[in-house]
Amino acid sequence: MIQHEVALDRFNTFGLPAIAESYLPLTHVDQLRAPVFKTAPDLVLGGGSNLLLLDRVPGLTVHVLLGSILQADGKGKFRVGAGVDWNQFVRHTLEAGFGGLENLVLIPGTVGAAPVQNIGAYGAEVAEFITAVHVYEYGHGPRQLSPEDCAFGYRDSRFKREEGRFLITAVDFDLSASRPLKLDYGAIRQELERLQISSPGPGDVALAVTNIRRRKLPDWFFLGNSGSFFKNPVVPRAVHENLLREYPDLPAYPIDEANVKLPAGWLIDHAGLRGHREGAVGTYSGQALVMVNHGGANGAQVLAFTEKVQSIIQEKYGVQLEREVRLVGQSQKRG
Ligand code: EPU
Repeated sequence: MIQHEVALDRFNTFGLPAIAESYLPLTHVDQLRAPVFKTAPDLVLGGGSNLLLLDRVPGLTVHVLLGSILQADGKGKFRVGAGVDWNQFVRHTLEAGFGGLENLVLIPGTVGAAPVQNIGAYGAEVAEFITAVHVYEYGHGPRQLSPEDCAFGYRDSRFKREEGRFLITAVDFDLSASRPLKLDYGAIRQELERLQISSPGPGDVALAVTNIRRRKLPDWFFLGNSGSFFKNPVVPRAVHENLLREYPDLPAYPIDEANVKLPAGWLIDHAGLRGHREGAVGTYSGQALVMVNHGGANGAQVLAFTEKVQSIIQEKYGVQLEREVRLVGQSQKRG
């Protein structure tokens, strides 16, 4: 049933005020047969954790609430509804005795959103566990896409590049293979040491990651935010080498022969902007890449603040920061 003039404030982790002109909760795939799905809705909303919402979302917002977890074979194969909370699914797999997703614990958002930006943390990416993505192709019908069809990349996939073509209804995961734990991140090893765990299992790694994230990243329930606001910029190696002359401590992660990834959080921090605040908007004191809503901010204010951050970074380092979060809607007034 389509509703009108629905507030989305509670449905985005930034806690930004926004009104959807029309709003449809999607609780069953059969609803997708309705004529309205001949074309893409204006906004497909999952956990609302990667969104920068302006005041008004014109047209139709579809809220994906498809929420089932099926274990296909008892051996680590899962089919999960797109509306299931990502962290709940991760916990469910760990409790059922299947490792794999422990590095990705506590990432906000839904299972259906995970493949869109190929969520990742602490050396793991969701793409390596996905065996199929079930979608509804607007104007056509249900389809199943293979991982190759999804063209996964760093915080990227076909779903981003072909926005408006598919609605993700469910994702298949295979956690049956026993994989070595990913402990490459120094922070994980240090935390395990602190916990005095010398031969960790997946549950211990999940605990370590949980502790690290709780320390570094704000809980959106108390302080509105959408995780990393910008992507880590990929630049030619020569750009990094030039920057090293002035900033000898600037870290870089190799991408390929020609390019490296620079930590945007470092760039913002070393521009003196960690914890910087203007009105209700600021960067988080514990992680400069996270923008926070101290209470009462609107989307236009967040946008203005972050455009300022982008221009300071451009001026200081000659590096262009690109938003990781999606900007959606229209502003009623600037300010
Ligand atoms: N750094 C600073 N100051 C800061 C923040 C970071 O100096 O204020 C430095 C850190 O010391 C470190 C480097 O920058 O040397 C990278 O920081 P961090 O390890 O916190 O990771 P990140 O690159 O900022 C990425 C993901 C996060 C993910 C973490 C952990 C992106 C855009 N972000 O952050 O993902 O949790 O790694 O793996 O790739 C998200 O996408 O929403 C997200 C939170």
